Amino acid sequence: MTKLKIGILGAGGIATGRHIPAFQQVEEASFTAVMDVNEDRAREVAHKFGIGHVCTNLDDMLGKIDALLITTPNKFHAPAAIQALNAGVHVMCEKPMALNTKECEDMITAAEKSGKMLTIAYHYRFMKEARAAKRIMDSGEIGEPLVIRVKAMRRRKVPGWGVFTSRDLQGGGALIDYGCHLLDLALWLTGSSKPTEVSGTTYNHLSMQKEQVNEWGTINPATFEVEDHAAAFIRLESGAVVMLETSWAANIPEDEGAISISGTKGGLEVFPLRINKSEHGMLFNSDVTWIPEEKSFELLQAEHFVQCCRGESVPLVNPYESMFVSSIIESIYESAKTGSSVQIKR
Ligand SMILES: NC(=O)c1ccc[n+]([C@@H]2O[C@H](COP(=O)([O-])OP(=O)(O)OC[C@H]3O[C@@H](n4cnc5c(N)ncnc54)[C@H](O)[C@@H]3O)[C@@H](O)[C@H]2O)c1
Repeated sequence: MTKLKIGILGAGGIATGRHIPAFQQVEEASFTAVMDVNEDRAREVAHKFGIGHVCTNLDDMLGKIDALLITTPNKFHAPAAIQALNAGVHVMCEKPMALNTKECEDMITAAEKSGKMLTIAYHYRFMKEARAAKRIMDSGEIGEPLVIRVKAMRRRKVPGWGVFTSRDLQGGGALIDYGCHLLDLALWLTGSSKPTEVSGTTYNHLSMQKEQVNEWGTINPATFEVEDHAAAFIRLESGAVVMLETSWAANIPEDEGAISISGTKGGLEVFPLRINKSEHGMLFNSDVTWIPEEKSFELLQAEHFVQCCRGESVPLVNPYESMFVSSIIESIYESAKTGSSVQIKR
């Protein structure tokens, strides 16, 4: 068996904490090359994980691999993905897909032209609760989704490392970094309907205060350029609506990452998983007490990507769906700026 040769661009936290260890467990793949703008960092990571090539030029790395994982700050996702796809290399790009819809479109065009695979690491879809929720939604038990509530809420956990508070490098804050995950999951669970209209607001009052209490390190208000809280109302082509709230730094009793779907036949809560229904003239809430989990989500994601590159499966995360997430995020930022709702035409 010829192993799929994988390279990684951006040797930071998510590369070393998730992707490299996961892909190194996949028998059909071999981790071949690593590159980072910080060459010392790339060498350190290559040494730690036994990766053969440390590259300083992307074209050079692309010549050595079959598939590229992109784990750089968000600003570099689109250019790196397009360069890799044009060179005939499959791509899995970290979330968010890119900074805006136009960049996502350009990535999809490059994938379609090259015939290579493009997918986005929306890993929540591989979690056992999410896969179980998808089975319930697909069974029709909840009926047609009508109102979808999405909460991606952290109490005072602004990332105090990396470049997460740079607008230039990340494109935004809590929404593009954390909200995107649960928004992606909610759209996928409810049938991936296209967004048509968005009204949203963003805030960063808490992170601009001096001497905040923050569990995830120190934040500097002088360089804090993004939102720490966002709320939005999103209309979908299906007729359903999404009510989204996301924050890195809310004044709430505790963190909450949850989705609640009200459908025509019943309701579904995710994290924790619960079905709400009426039956036999009564109201029932069914709690799920055990969900099988054979493998971790990161390993499932890695194995699935390798299978897709080998033509044995199609990507669970379709790039058009990731583009819808990015166009909603872009529209929330625009709506927050103008104070008006934004129509999504694409
Ligand atoms: N799926 C998730 O849950 C999850 C979690 C964390 C981060 N992420 C995503 O992963 C990406 C990276 O986040 P991170 O937490 O690893 O950040 P990080 O700051 O820890 O690592 C980023 C690395 O990229 C390198 N880099 C910067 N610009 C580069 C360039 N142009 N070319 C090559 N390397 C470059 C940096 O030197 C650094 O080593 C972001 O897009 C982020 O949104 C996803």
